[in-house]
Amino acid sequence: MRRPVIAGNWKMHKTSHEAQEFIEKLAANLKGVEEADVIVAPAFTSLEAAVKAAQGSQIKIAAQNMHWENKGAYTGEISPAMLRDLGVTHCIIGHSERRQYFAETDHTVNKKVRAALDNEIIPIVCVGEILEEREKGDTFNVVEKQTKAALEGLTSTQVAELILAYEPVWAIGTGKTSSADDAQEVITKIREIIANDFGRESAGRVRIQYGGSVKPENIKGFMEQSDIDGALVGGASLEVDSFLKLINY
Ligand code: PGA
Repeated sequence: MRRPVIAGNWKMHKTSHEAQEFIEKLAANLKGVEEADVIVAPAFTSLEAAVKAAQGSQIKIAAQNMHWENKGAYTGEISPAMLRDLGVTHCIIGHSERRQYFAETDHTVNKKVRAALDNEIIPIVCVGEILEEREKGDTFNVVEKQTKAALEGLTSTQVAELILAYEPVWAIGTGKTSSADDAQEVITKIREIIANDFGRESAGRVRIQYGGSVKPENIKGFMEQSDIDGALVGGASLEVDSFLKLINY
């Protein structure tokens, strides 16, 4: 039985003060909700306040990106060691917005995934096709290529312990969602790819989220699917009430 994992990706929203207030309110309202892992991914500038506000609660704090080196001449970058030092436990890696706007490639995703694991940070690895690829019937190929590349060189145990997020790019922030059946189909495919490369046990243990316009009104349909273990949520994670509804789906 895989434990559900609901994660909020705040993207470039909220100041450090707003993050602190949100997490304190969330923590106060989460008491008694123990059936799911809850992760919040604020901007870098809010991570320290977020970690402090989350102390003593079940909320884990994720970064939205990181560099693969622990230090060096990389102006403007943040290292896994710096995140770890703050108490950050997870990091979103390979989000489509980073692939689209910041030249993230399958190769850099793989380097970051390995670096995260070396620093005991759990990666939330994002894969997903763009609209044009879906329309051409290329979804499985794209997702297979991204998944294989992201996980290259990892051990079966490492794969079992990370989190994957299938996020069809055309569904992110657009209000369009994949149908729960379509999302289940792609996520089952991802599990098959992992079974082939890392064995049935890892494929059975790894948690795979769906992401892309998940809202309190539609999360249940996704969570009812046998292969979908959680959601990576952008817009609907920005208000405490809405995020709580997602956690209590
Ligand atoms: P959305 O974003 O929920 O606003 O579509 C999801 C994501 O980008 O992770």
